Amino acid sequence: MNIQWYPGHMTKTRRMIAEQIKNVDAVCEILDARIPVSSRNPDVDELTAGKPRMVVLNRVDQADPEGTKRWAEHFRAKGYAVLESDAKSGVGTAKFAGAVRELLADKLRAYAEKGMTGRVVRVMILGIPNVGKSTFINKVAGRKTAKTEDRPGVTRSKQWVPIDRNLELLDTPGILWPKFDDQSVGMNLAYTGAVKDDILDVETLGCYLMAYLGEHYPDALKAAYKLSALPEREAEKNDIAYGYRLLEAAGKKRGFLISGGEVDTERMAKILLDEFRSAKLGRFTLEVP
Ligand code: G4P
Repeated sequence: MNIQWYPGHMTKTRRMIAEQIKNVDAVCEILDARIPVSSRNPDVDELTAGKPRMVVLNRVDQADPEGTKRWAEHFRAKGYAVLESDAKSGVGTAKFAGAVRELLADKLRAYAEKGMTGRVVRVMILGIPNVGKSTFINKVAGRKTAKTEDRPGVTRSKQWVPIDRNLELLDTPGILWPKFDDQSVGMNLAYTGAVKDDILDVETLGCYLMAYLGEHYPDALKAAYKLSALPEREAEKNDIAYGYRLLEAAGKKRGFLISGGEVDTERMAKILLDEFRSAKLGRFTLEVP
């Protein structure tokens, strides 16, 4: 799978990040708590080397709470400050300013000792498209700020957003990377809606998602589709075959039949993706640390 996502725009944004990194005290990456690896731009480590780092696990309302706990521990163990957030409802966002000050405590103490108490702390905010970056910034700022555009050809490529007298954010465009080396990254981004469905046909995507849920969240799947039991996962069958049988079972329960009594698995796959994205099926985390 090779997703090209505005390569010229990505190059410009990367350059902007590299130029601006010297103007910020810390870097905050907003990740999707359901897919903390797949929603993490692999270029960020190299671009921001040496800066104190914060990770915001956003969309915790849609993720498995146990998974979020494990990811938070994972990033803390690596020395990152971690904030769990549901930016849509504003849960967790009020802790952002305090978390930044804690992350930069040594630096701020050193400034205070030199009498530089009024110095503004600047934080660069990074995140792939649709992760909830604008929603998060608006909640932290307490007002609606202009959205930086993820698309090329629009002039607003970065902006400084004042939060309080001592804290300013640098909002950047959401960028993906030109090529996913690992196919599961592309699929995770498609399940969550970060990239368009058309990278793969909907039915194939639905099969893979069903297979994952059937394996990791069988009880939730049974409850969501009122299935008394799931089809057996046979060792010799691949994910597609297993997922297809789950799509058939769920589609049959929903009454999605086409001529000849066959199940309309494509329709079921579309519904599955919609329901996954809106967390109607439950709260799931698709990656483990
Ligand atoms: P971006 O800047 O990273 O591209 O993302 P943006 O903030 O525009 O958010 C994309 C969508 O995700 C928005 O929904 C937003 O409300 C939703 N969202 C952001 N953070 C969270 C979160 O923590 N939990 C949940 N459940 N949703 C979140 P939308 O449907 O595009 O807009 P709207 O209907 O909310 O206005």
